[in-house]
Amino acid sequence: MDLKALKEKIDLQIQTLFDELVQTRRHLHQNPEIGYQEFQTTAFLIQKCQFYGFKMMTHPGKTGFWFDLGSASNKPLLALRADIDALPVTEQSSVEYASKNPGKMHACGHDVHTTILLGTAIILNQLKELFPFNVRFIFQPAEEPTPGGAIQMIQRGAIENVTAILALHVDSRLPVGKISIKSGAQMASTDIFQIKIYGKGGHAAAPHLAIDPILIGAEIVNSLHHITSRNVDPVQPAVLTVSRFQAGTTANVIPGEAELWGTCRSFQPDLRAYLPIRLKEIVNAICQGHHATCEIDIKNGAPPVINDPRLYQLVDNAASEILGAQNIVQVSVPDMGAEDFAYYLEKVPGFFFRLGTKGRPGTDFPIHHPQFDVDERAIPVGIKAFVWSVLKFFEQDNL
Ligand code: NI
Repeated sequence: MDLKALKEKIDLQIQTLFDELVQTRRHLHQNPEIGYQEFQTTAFLIQKCQFYGFKMMTHPGKTGFWFDLGSASNKPLLALRADIDALPVTEQSSVEYASKNPGKMHACGHDVHTTILLGTAIILNQLKELFPFNVRFIFQPAEEPTPGGAIQMIQRGAIENVTAILALHVDSRLPVGKISIKSGAQMASTDIFQIKIYGKGGHAAAPHLAIDPILIGAEIVNSLHHITSRNVDPVQPAVLTVSRFQAGTTANVIPGEAELWGTCRSFQPDLRAYLPIRLKEIVNAICQGHHATCEIDIKNGAPPVINDPRLYQLVDNAASEILGAQNIVQVSVPDMGAEDFAYYLEKVPGFFFRLGTKGRPGTDFPIHHPQFDVDERAIPVGIKAFVWSVLKFFEQDNL
């Protein structure tokens, strides 16, 4: 079959499937579950997969699963990954498919990623006689929490024998019909810090008898910002944000304790290692200087997302062919967001791209916003980008 005929065939197949995919996405959207609790979501997806005849489902954890499609011997195995979890956000949109689970919402579009992965499997299954491939479909739980579900999936064997891996994420800044791609560093590493400051409580009118953890905390917040502005090379991207400051209960009491939480983000391994070292030096010194004590806890989140240049080229070529070169947006700078897809990239080469979802009114809210929604015409675009990338990968077969 020539490429033009194959494109038309895929177009027709996706058109036929479109209504059902929209229903699937809306079902997921109405029934969101947060990280590691995606029990109904997993059951629903496994049922869908069984309906379409996908077998050999591997679900070693409580939530999430994967399965393989294709039987091309002597060919590599390409993995496609979707995340299936929602966020602890109360939906404030008025769409008829709004979340039925209070305090939970697919505010990051993972319902769309999941639907696209399912749709890609259905289409590839219909094409398996036409070209050889081996694809693993990974439905991963808990992308949002730290530590993310990718670690668990990897430990349980999700990328055993996998040669390369692809994933996408919705992007409400980008018009529907387009994808955006970038080679190399795309998203930052993320580490979380929690600082407890132990002072001495007392009367607000007698601060000289107390050790005020709020004032010490305020000094810490200010001083931590010297790290990125005065210790880090200005041409190296780095962020340190204090995102939570909790202390005290009322107006006339100096509390005994204060708590600061935040995140450090960067791209270079040496810089990533340096930020918490400097943070500890500053926090310890300030606390000591004010006769307070402290506890500092640093949790490592995901490493940076570094896209493989060969897969970048592959997806660029594939997506240009199927979506049109005018719909491929080249991104030149990384962003400081984070993704647990990065854990897979520590093990195998991979590529992560973004899918435009801004179209009809109400689809330009940023991800994680309580009114976030997508233009569902993005679903076929994502499927086409995946299907054509698979086709090109196995045509080229040289990674
Ligand atoms: Ni997300």
